[in-house]
Amino acid sequence: MSPQAFWQSDERLNGHTGWFREVACPGVDRFETLMSSPDGQEAVARLAEAVSGEILEHAYWGGMRDRLPASQTDALAGSHPLRPTQPRPGERVIIEGHHNIALIRSGQNWEHTVGAERERYLGEVEPVLREGMAFLASSDGVGAGCLSNRYLRVLDDNFAPIARSYGLSWWQSLAHMEAWAEKHPTHLKIFGAFMGMLQAIASPPSLRLYHEVSVLQAGDAQFEYINCHASTGLLRLAT
Ligand code: HEM
Repeated sequence: MSPQAFWQSDERLNGHTGWFREVACPGVDRFETLMSSPDGQEAVARLAEAVSGEILEHAYWGGMRDRLPASQTDALAGSHPLRPTQPRPGERVIIEGHHNIALIRSGQNWEHTVGAERERYLGEVEPVLREGMAFLASSDGVGAGCLSNRYLRVLDDNFAPIARSYGLSWWQSLAHMEAWAEKHPTHLKIFGAFMGMLQAIASPPSLRLYHEVSVLQAGDAQFEYINCHASTGLLRLAT
């Protein structure tokens, strides 16, 4: 059976399994990525043949917006998300992303950390990261403009967890995402714990961080939920 036939089959509407896909196709001028070390390529950046050296547009609030080429000529203002209707079991729900819906994947790789750095990361940074991710996934997160958030652990080929994770979240607008990063206590706590770790180890960290942000035009993001529970992805916005 082809993947398309599998996806379209009415059999997906039955049983105890829900299926979903959230597809983002940003143009290059609406995509940016930043990594903490030149060998830390992850996600879309792995397609690149080479990366630039250090850039000026980082280490200040607003740097991420400045790295998006489209922001030079466009305020990238969001609009109100379309509210899906309450899903019922056995139903397909298709949602078109609204103009300038924003997506971030923000990843952590602690595979190469040892000793005090690993202890500080796992003991002080990761717990506040988890809290921040739980906030965004809660109904308070919706109030902050976060439409959906997942905190994910990367698995190996045998489905065993490895020392990598990432947060994946959809936002009503880039401005909402920025406001959370710059002002909300949960991201500021993550930021503070990370800075504390850097001071404590007093040598270049082995922790690798990266993120990638997209701001999508209308028609460039599509969501489909089949037989899913009502809190899956954007379905939590249902009225
Ligand atoms: C261990 C986890 C994390 C650490 C240590 C961390 C730390 C930081 C730091 C140092 C910056 C400034 C980067 C620069 O421009 O040089 C930053 C920016 C940012 N972070 Fe985090 N962060 C973490 C996780 C997350 C997560 C999970 C999200 C969202 C899901 C997030 C959202 C953002 C955003 C949107 C910015 C850009 C703000 C701007 O340029 O205006 N961060 N973070």
